[in-house]
Amino acid sequence: MKILAIESSCDETAAAVVEDGRTVHSSIIASQVEEHRLYGGVVPEIASRRHAEAIVPVVTQALEQASLTLDGIDAIAVTYAPGLIGALLVGVNFAKGLALSTGLPLVPVHHLRSHIASNYISNQELKPPFLCLVVSGGHSHIVMVEDYTKMKIIGRTRDDAAGEAFDKAARTMGMPYPGGIELDRVAEGGDPLAFKLPRPTVHDAPYDFSFSGLKTAVINLLHNSAQKGIEVNKADVCASFRYAVVDCLCTNFIKAAQDLGVDKLVIAGGVSANSLLRRTLSDECGKRGWKLYMPGKSLCGDNAAMVGAQAYYEYLSGNTAGTDLNAYATMSIEKG
Ligand code: KG4
Ligand code: ZN
Repeated sequence: MKILAIESSCDETAAAVVEDGRTVHSSIIASQVEEHRLYGGVVPEIASRRHAEAIVPVVTQALEQASLTLDGIDAIAVTYAPGLIGALLVGVNFAKGLALSTGLPLVPVHHLRSHIASNYISNQELKPPFLCLVVSGGHSHIVMVEDYTKMKIIGRTRDDAAGEAFDKAARTMGMPYPGGIELDRVAEGGDPLAFKLPRPTVHDAPYDFSFSGLKTAVINLLHNSAQKGIEVNKADVCASFRYAVVDCLCTNFIKAAQDLGVDKLVIAGGVSANSLLRRTLSDECGKRGWKLYMPGKSLCGDNAAMVGAQAYYEYLSGNTAGTDLNAYATMSIEKG
């Protein structure tokens, strides 16, 4: 079954053709990041406008790259939640139009479920059940993926998402948006033990995260040093901060796996590209004899191939929509 998938939840307009949830025939991404960088973050109104401009050429290119026309497509899939509402609506309305004009089924896909599904492309043998750490710019969850479309949240952030904390710390150090990638790169040359940063925990919720105190601690460290005229080594700050965030993520994720008796672990979302997170989890899982699956680095960020992958399983479970499909800024991954 070949699915034409569309993604427009944030600042990437993307389309892809994916067969049976696993084989990517094409994947096109038009990124708006350069424009948003001027403002230090995503400007929702600009994002919606750029999606509206890019969607026709991006979908056309996805079909061309797959050497297909709409006649060779079996279903249309689209990210419908969560995300920027104006941005989501561009993809949803376009997908509804395509489904209506072709008579093809329309499959709504939850953005975080699609991040998890990027792993079905990178790891062809991977099947649920497994425990997944979903870490993106807007969310940080530990999710038990009981089946392709059945998920249970085990832990979540109480405030900032991990990606958001990375981006805000990076911005304070003058790095361009989205700073997480640059912070990760600079951290490679620093000492993770140079600065002592807190590891916040949430009382009575051992799997939940809290990153805002950690973010404030690093921002205070930078501001205090600047006020006193002390020059701090940027690489050391990046390395210490990255170590603290990754430590919090891995501690709770491993504890959850241990407590639940799960030995198959998966990571997903933009922050799953983080070098230290990948290394630490590989080591920790290796020591325990657990299996760890990660998306290829090109599939960690937003793309439509992952939407096409998840859509296949949503379709098989009977999850299709009519032309009354709406977009939602927030939506639990459990409801999907
Ligand atoms: O999943 P994603 O592409 O978009 C959302 O759904 O939010 O995640 C984007 C987030 C940004 O905060 C970005 O800074 C972060 O992922 N990110 C990273 C790395 N690469 C991307 N954070 C830390 N280390 C990285 N290597
Ligand atoms: Zn995302």
